[in-house]
Amino acid sequence: METLIVDKNDLKMCADCIKKGGLVVFPTETVYGIGADYSNDLAVKKIYKAKGRPSDNPLIVHIGRKSDVKKIAREIPKYAKKIMDKFWPGPLTLIFKKQPHVLDSVTAGLDTVAIRLPSNEIARNLIKLTNTFVVAPSANLSGSPSPTTYSHVADDLFGRVDFIIKGENCDIGLESTVVDVSGEYPVILRPGAITIEMLIEVAGYAEFDKNIFSYADKPKCPGMKYTHYSPKANVIVICGSKEDRKRYIDTNVDFSKNVGIMSYMNNEYPNCKKVICAGNSMDEYGHNLFFNLRAFDEFNIETVYAEFEDTDGLGIAVKNRLFKSAGYNIINV
Ligand code: TXA
Ligand code: MG
Repeated sequence: METLIVDKNDLKMCADCIKKGGLVVFPTETVYGIGADYSNDLAVKKIYKAKGRPSDNPLIVHIGRKSDVKKIAREIPKYAKKIMDKFWPGPLTLIFKKQPHVLDSVTAGLDTVAIRLPSNEIARNLIKLTNTFVVAPSANLSGSPSPTTYSHVADDLFGRVDFIIKGENCDIGLESTVVDVSGEYPVILRPGAITIEMLIEVAGYAEFDKNIFSYADKPKCPGMKYTHYSPKANVIVICGSKEDRKRYIDTNVDFSKNVGIMSYMNNEYPNCKKVICAGNSMDEYGHNLFFNLRAFDEFNIETVYAEFEDTDGLGIAVKNRLFKSAGYNIINV
């Protein structure tokens, strides 16, 4: 398939392509997504094929206006309305009971549907121009880290989609928070930039699904059960205080081997060939995480030691992605 790389001046052409059943990659504030018309079964199935995605992992329907949610969701609880009013447009996906017309290929046969109103202008303008809604998983090959720059999209999907819209690097760099609002209270299925503290402030109560930090066979968010965010390198997380992490790595890692270190809070390793700084805050860590994991692969590093320290807020989302990328290979120091 021929792939054209275009920019925000070509949105009309890209919207027409989606209307005709094509695939268009577009930037969002979280990560890049591959878009298709949510009402076109063949187009939706093409997405699974382009990504190599298992068909039991449902997609998020992206809308252009808040009022569109009524056209897809069957019930909108009062607390969910408050959450929508506070955080949409933005990095938040809500799971509602679905209306009957929503395709099984979108929801993987579930009775619920995931909906998100992105804040990125290119994304919203594109969706509005299609006059439909746009399903869009992250624009990576299934299993790889989500792409936060258009060149990482091209690495994975060139030749597999019709258009790639080149935008800025994604602001947040981690996928949206996924919150199930189909029950009596909000349950976070995937942590993200909208944190549990923020949800509790608006809805009075919220909880995490218990599978967020461990492997689960039947999680509520089907996407959570697959290997995810994995670079080619083996990732080992070194979790603890700044001093303990440094001491552990200096004592136990053989720098003569093909190893890399993702250091946090400026720990220095002058004898290691490839050190990438994850940043000095969880915002930076999250923003750079997927980019950094891909960068180690560009240097053909075999094993990456990733420093990490537990914190609340965005730290929960970073931990969730990092632990998955390491296949739960974690050393607490
Ligand atoms: O930030 C994002 O959400 C990005 C951008 C492109 O918007 N999209 C994204 O899509 O991350 P994807 O497909 O990579 O992740 C969607 C997640 C998966 O874990 C999936 O299992 C879950 O949402 N999901 C979708 N529909 C669901 C449903 N009805 N019930 C439970 N989980 C659902
Ligand atoms: Mg994904």
